[in-house]
Amino acid sequence: MPQQHKVVLVTGGSSGLGKAICEHLAAAGHTVYGTSRKALDQPSNYRFITMDLADEVSVQHAIHEVISTSGRIDVVVNNAGVGIQGATEDLLPEQATALFDTNVIGTHRVVRGVLPQMRRQGCGLIINITSLAANFGLPYRGFYSASKAALERYTETLSMEVKPFGIYALTLQPGEFNTNIGANRIRPAVIGDAYKAGYERAMELLGGSLHYSRDPVEVARLVERIMGTERPKTVYYAAHGKQRLAVFLKKLLPGRFFQRLMMKEYK
Ligand SMILES: NC(=O)c1ccc[n+]([C@@H]2O[C@H](COP(=O)([O-])OP(=O)(O)OC[C@H]3O[C@@H](n4cnc5c(N)ncnc54)[C@H](OP(=O)(O)O)[C@@H]3O)[C@@H](O)[C@H]2O)c1
Repeated sequence: MPQQHKVVLVTGGSSGLGKAICEHLAAAGHTVYGTSRKALDQPSNYRFITMDLADEVSVQHAIHEVISTSGRIDVVVNNAGVGIQGATEDLLPEQATALFDTNVIGTHRVVRGVLPQMRRQGCGLIINITSLAANFGLPYRGFYSASKAALERYTETLSMEVKPFGIYALTLQPGEFNTNIGANRIRPAVIGDAYKAGYERAMELLGGSLHYSRDPVEVARLVERIMGTERPKTVYYAAHGKQRLAVFLKKLLPGRFFQRLMMKEYK
């Protein structure tokens, strides 16, 4: 897509990566709609609309609002998402269902909502924010990895199905960024004795000062760059050093060996 003025919808625009994307794209002159489940004060150079990914009607209303106001929708950044932590056995099926309903099915609701308009336009760009965690099962965040891996495969298929209509679908995998995701994670109601020590060590590591330290504007700049690319790639990474290396090691190393490295990292 050539870099010019675009109408952009960013889900989860109230915080973290989504907020940085809204602010950055609006400053670059794009017409930006950011979503939140809450009614928020309107920023000066973009617009907040309410959308709950778990509610089909709310998703349809929000998309209708963008199209009826701006007449088109060029780019959707499916950014809204939620984290989860806990030993797999400790997490209830209802909690896993809620996670998938936001991270995977919620994204699908938005995709279904925007595709008819994009097909009418004969062009569009869908950027699904997944995670580096999609590449491996992270200890005590297995359902998060699973939801993001599901979104990766979903997008891979979608990408092939919508390409004939001039629409690009791709994923952007962030590493660790300084946002509110840690505070908002779904947590186990009861931490079983069997997993307590390992879980607490992993959470300590996760909350450590080296984690979640990168500036979300890095992701916003990458989104802008993708928007300016004629034929975008299928997957983009916003990760560096050890995290980025881990993606390649996962592909290269025997499974047990990679798991040993991962367990060592999580002590
Ligand atoms: N931060 C990282 O290190 C990192 C790494 C990899 C991937 N990611 C992914 O990046 C995305 C953004 O996360 P973040 O780190 O910026 O987290 P965040 O600061 O917690 O922001 C999450 C956003 O998602 C929205 N949201 C959550 N549940 C929603 C729902 N049911 N319906 C509509 N909106 C909902 C929130 O909006 P309201 O609460 O206002 O409704 C908020 O704007 C997520 O998909 C996350 O998995 C983050």
